Amino acid sequence: MMASTQMPRPVPAGVSSLATGVRGGTEGPAVEFRNIDIAYGKFVAVRDFSLAIDKGSFVTLLGPSGCGKTTILRAIAGLVGISAGEISIGGRRIDGIPIYKRNIGLVFQNYALFPHKTVFDNVAFGLKYRNVPKPEIRQRVTEALEMVRLPGSEKKLPSQLSGGQQQRIALARAIVFQPEVLLLDEPLSALDANMREEMRVEIKKIQKATGITALFVTHDQDEALAMSDRIVVMNSGVMEQTGTPHAVYEQPETRFVASFLGKANLLSGTMTGVAGGRATVELPDARKVTVATDASPAKGAAVTLVLRPQKLAVGAPAGADLVGTVTSASYLGSSVLYEIDSGGSVLHAANLIEGRPFEEGETVGISLPASGVVLLDADGRRLR
Ligand SMILES: Nc1ncnc2c1ncn2[C@@H]1O[C@H](COP(=O)(O)OP(=O)(O)O)[C@@H](O)[C@H]1O
Ligand SMILES: [Mg+2]
Repeated sequence: MMASTQMPRPVPAGVSSLATGVRGGTEGPAVEFRNIDIAYGKFVAVRDFSLAIDKGSFVTLLGPSGCGKTTILRAIAGLVGISAGEISIGGRRIDGIPIYKRNIGLVFQNYALFPHKTVFDNVAFGLKYRNVPKPEIRQRVTEALEMVRLPGSEKKLPSQLSGGQQQRIALARAIVFQPEVLLLDEPLSALDANMREEMRVEIKKIQKATGITALFVTHDQDEALAMSDRIVVMNSGVMEQTGTPHAVYEQPETRFVASFLGKANLLSGTMTGVAGGRATVELPDARKVTVATDASPAKGAAVTLVLRPQKLAVGAPAGADLVGTVTSASYLGSSVLYEIDSGGSVLHAANLIEGRPFEEGETVGISLPASGVVLLDADGRRLR
């Protein structure tokens, strides 16, 4: 894919060349998967996967290790074949397009730079293969290094740079030839926590500034929530749900999504009645709670309430929906995380601090959210 013969597009005066080639063009999604299967021998690693990625958007494949994220990126790059369905880039099916002509930028966790080449030569690599004239190579490399905030580092060797800086160079190398799509496979996972958060912001800024379409892979839910226009939650080779970070977090369609994406309190019980947008559920210890929900399951149905920690308001016991004992209180300055034993189940609550936080051993009340509680059925699917 480094050897495309595609010529660089003209650059209008005053506009960074990095910001042009990837915008506009034909209508339709930048990348589209239609019902693809990907198999390694007899093992089907990805099954019936369909997704359309809008031009210029930042989409994240999120899921646990082994769920098929890397396999999907490899299929776009042409490193693994698909056994069913089709993939299009910019409206063209890629089946017949040789790997080197797929105009794709790659940044992988361990996508090492050439250790004996300078930063300039590393970044210029894809351009030299494309027969870009020398003065333009210089200009584009300069711009790409400015974009990743490492201007003037042309003569350095990778070994003279930190891990985070090396990843920036890898990013510069991937965007310098204006790929139609940028694939990022866990690019931050080798970095320490501080650097990781800094690079999240950085990558997002660069993606927006260049207008490049990005498909990002991570198993880190915080990373996915913080960076994405849209998240695709994967589990065992199958897409569980796709939507904005807010939608997948607040409105999980399955038990897997609810528990994988952040902490969720999952309270199981039996429906005893629904009326006027409020459902009453009997918990195993015979306590009844009434929650505000759009779902209307049948009486007697087994259901699970999905309650996000920050939606549980901890306060005085009187008049609360549930009462319990604080078993752990972690003070975080602006907020406090509680573990509360309520009738034998542990509930997690995250509250902003107003006044004094509650302490271990205190009896507290928990108020349930005033709207939008998601209910799951016995199979773990969201009830409507
Ligand atoms: N070359 C391969 N041969 C056989 N199985 C593979 C190969 N690569 C990956 N797999 C399997 O395919 C599944 C998906 O792998 P992968 O896409 O790497 O997952 P992820 O990136 O989400 O961690 C895993 O079960 C993995 O063991
Ligand atoms: Mg992977």
